[in-house]
Amino acid sequence: MFAKECWYVAALSREVGRSLLSRTIANEALVMYRTEAGQPVVMLDRCPHRLVPLSAGKLVGDAVQCGYHGITYNHDGRCIKIPGEHQISAKFCSTTFPAVERWGFIWVWLSDATAADESKLPQDFHWGTEPGWTPLSDYLRVEGNYQLLVDNLLDLSHEAFLHMGTIGNAAVAETPAETTLRGDFVQVARYMKDCGPPKLFVRAAGFTTNIDRTQRIIYTPPCYVVIEVRAVPTGTDGAERKLEWWVLNALTPETDRTTHYFWGLPRGFAHDDAELTEMLRAGILRTFEEDRVMIEAQQRVLDKVSLDLRTVYTKADQAPGRARSIVSAMIAREHQSAQPVTDTGS
Ligand SMILES: [Fe+2]
Repeated sequence: MFAKECWYVAALSREVGRSLLSRTIANEALVMYRTEAGQPVVMLDRCPHRLVPLSAGKLVGDAVQCGYHGITYNHDGRCIKIPGEHQISAKFCSTTFPAVERWGFIWVWLSDATAADESKLPQDFHWGTEPGWTPLSDYLRVEGNYQLLVDNLLDLSHEAFLHMGTIGNAAVAETPAETTLRGDFVQVARYMKDCGPPKLFVRAAGFTTNIDRTQRIIYTPPCYVVIEVRAVPTGTDGAERKLEWWVLNALTPETDRTTHYFWGLPRGFAHDDAELTEMLRAGILRTFEEDRVMIEAQQRVLDKVSLDLRTVYTKADQAPGRARSIVSAMIAREHQSAQPVTDTGS
């Protein structure tokens, strides 16, 4: 079961164009495209006539023509053509969802359209297209529940074991984190003084000495984790050499046991270095591939036993635990407000 009164990243901006893209988000099969004017459209991938996938049809201008009987739906869902019929009932429509393009991603709202307020987007993602920052984004699919990936990102002590070839160093596991839990606000921060630089940091910024490394992880429900990363040579202010980037993670549930992992890595240094951009893309994909292998192994265990069987808890489990209870409360609230009001009989 997923929270529905929220925005989910449905695609990278560059994935959606003038052809039909089929993708499942939170167990809903969707079809996406752009109008001729470039507006993103998200529709249920199901022709309401015979329930075949609309993605098996084709675009005709701004409309989708079903590939089975040629019934055609405009970008707002309205049926505009039934071959051989001249009158079309106004109630014949496909289901459409609010969609916005923001910060390099296409976002979709899967519940009541009147509540699809853009102020509810996770605002930290603005770094994805921030002027003066160099953008980078990509995607991978993981055969594991999205909350396992939220757990993974809210406890980065694992970097010291899983990611020593890229972003890991010993300090990230050895330095106690400062965890802030305040209502729905969850933050984990680590300030690592005078530590060895991770390999990817050396390749990106050319560090030749120890570094002071900062890592601030912020969670936004239900599935967003952004990480502010900064490193400078120990004892300097970074005027000579510095590394600063944000890791933007959107863990969109596909099904109960699969996730669309959209990520961004906007950086605030070495802006004109296209080679560095591609090196970072490869380095981050390698890192997330290491996560993917571990999470998929974990999911295969959880297919057989419940996570409730765990008996060891660490301090670093606080933030992932809070994130899970925030989502449970969110889902409970949605279901409560969906209940019909009953007569108390008084
Ligand atoms: Fe990881």
